[in-house]
Amino acid sequence: MEQIEKAQSAAALSVIEQRLFGRKDGAMTLAMKELKELDESARKKKAMELNEKKKKLIDAIENRKATLASPQDATLRKEDALDVTLRLPRKEQGHLHLIPEFYAEVEEIFGRMGFDVMESPEMETEDLNFTQLNIPEDHPARDTQDTFWMKMKGKEKKVLRTHTSPGQVRYMRSHKPPFRAIFPGKVYRKDADATHSPMFHQFEGLMIGRNVSLANMKAVMETAVRELISKDATFRWRTGFFPFTEPSLEMDVRWQGEDKTKEGDWLEIVGCGMVHPNVLRNCNIDPDEWQGFAFGFGVDRMVMIRHQIPSIRLLFPGDLRFLRQF
Ligand code: DAH
Repeated sequence: MEQIEKAQSAAALSVIEQRLFGRKDGAMTLAMKELKELDESARKKKAMELNEKKKKLIDAIENRKATLASPQDATLRKEDALDVTLRLPRKEQGHLHLIPEFYAEVEEIFGRMGFDVMESPEMETEDLNFTQLNIPEDHPARDTQDTFWMKMKGKEKKVLRTHTSPGQVRYMRSHKPPFRAIFPGKVYRKDADATHSPMFHQFEGLMIGRNVSLANMKAVMETAVRELISKDATFRWRTGFFPFTEPSLEMDVRWQGEDKTKEGDWLEIVGCGMVHPNVLRNCNIDPDEWQGFAFGFGVDRMVMIRHQIPSIRLLFPGDLRFLRQF
């Protein structure tokens, strides 16, 4: 009885049970067998005794079993614990990196607004990256200081595209208006600090039709910011300058940055405007018949604002200590 009450697991109990009631050599089984050898009155007496003992033991075993199985008994018994992961490789639930996760949402939101998605090459000709976008030969954006040039054996040198805007030219040359499309992808510039990285991400957009206006553009931009950053995002419009749009606008969004005691800084997240007639002409689209807007959003900065990430450089090393926080 003492052993039963002290048994620490169902396995230990079943060993005791076996020792008592095992068919061949259980102590109780043997005692029952020995009854045969007694004379009748002694046998009856002994049988009653044994039956009583048997009942007590069985009750005690059942009780102990119930206690061990009960959830109130919080001590986890090692032998009983069933580790269902034991034979499986340990798997971790992963998730997309913040950047591709963001792009998936961009495609979903702009898809709902009727925008097509097109990828465009990362190595671009100087002509498409600059000239066709109405960027003059002497424009400072062409300065080799900002740009990674690629020597091509026996061919015209190429540039790691400095923006996704050449996608506009490629799209306009291969489609007939009216249309709307976005061009997501990596871009490269010789820039590096907390809000600049030599490789970063943009998504360009373009909408051309007969009556597409600046008001339409603002509606699309503001929808994108509310859906992609936050419906309460604080933003401001500024006039800007880009050779490929006229007029041009920029939008800044309030960003907390590293110093949480400060009100926060404005961070520029998009350049946009009405597509310049010269660009339309370069793409064989008649500016007297067609007009529209284009925009280029800075993806990394939007992700930083959305998740309150203090430096763009945290986004790229793939450090799991950082990525697991999201
Ligand atoms: N390409 C510009 C940049 O990278 C952003 C931009 C501005 C894109 C105006 C546009 C636009 O499509 O219309 O700084």
